[in-house]
Amino acid sequence: MRGKVVLVGAGPGDPDLLTVKAARAIAAADVVVYDRLVPAEVLSIIPAGTARIDVGKQAGHHPVPQEEINSLLIRLARLGRTVVRLKGGDPFIFGRGCEESIALEREGIACEVIPGITAAQGCAASARVPLTHRGLASSVRYLTGHCRADLPLNLDWKGLADPDTTLVVYMGLANIEEIARRLIEHGLPADTPAVAVCQGTTPRERRVCARLDDLAKAAKTAGFDGPVLFIIGQVAALAVQRHGLDDATCNDDRAMVVA
Ligand SMILES: C[S@@+](CC[C@H](N)C(=O)[O-])C[C@H]1O[C@@H](n2cnc3c(N)ncnc32)[C@H](O)[C@@H]1O
Repeated sequence: MRGKVVLVGAGPGDPDLLTVKAARAIAAADVVVYDRLVPAEVLSIIPAGTARIDVGKQAGHHPVPQEEINSLLIRLARLGRTVVRLKGGDPFIFGRGCEESIALEREGIACEVIPGITAAQGCAASARVPLTHRGLASSVRYLTGHCRADLPLNLDWKGLADPDTTLVVYMGLANIEEIARRLIEHGLPADTPAVAVCQGTTPRERRVCARLDDLAKAAKTAGFDGPVLFIIGQVAALAVQRHGLDDATCNDDRAMVVA
């Protein structure tokens, strides 16, 4: 008897942001194979009798190589298990979900995909930043701030430096100084508002607002602990800053006033 693999988006952190379909799939699984970005709050909904396998990866450090994860999923499905492959956010946004689904399909293993709320949406909602907004942002772009094998960033800087577009930078903490500098060099105003969100949608969420030219310094000073997402663009002026329980709008900083 053949099992199957369900690639499930765990959302950005708050378990209430799991879709109903994701929660049902987790409840029905024989085994859950999960990533580092799936927080304890989400793991806590896995039924006590369900097997769990942690294949968490960290930037620059891969405890379980991708090929081994693929083989593990194939092996479990061949044993007849219903496997939930639980990934932070959405499996198909900077999540390598497609690589896994291709590997499974190649071996004739049934694979289903359940989308999740990506970090951009979760963090934006938490910070009350609309990713698009009439008069402020007519488009939004999700980009990675980290290249495979730590290669130099090779982004379309000219295209990205568009004041009418909201930029959402995933995995950008280590390179935010370079990202901000290159955007400014390519014409994005230095006073463009930005917000950094750490551990968005969890009880540990922290947010810092800054102008683009101050963003790297502000993020460093914040000493973030956990995944960080940057939202850069005029819409970020609408963000609510949060250090612990202390809320203040970003508009109290220089040049943060919405036109
Ligand atoms: C490998 S990517 C995975 C993205 C995920 N598939 C998604 O759709 O959100 C990891 C990056 O997502 C961002 N991220 C994920 N969860 C986050 C959260 N709760 N708060 C802030 N950033 C988050 C961070 O930029 C982190 O470095």
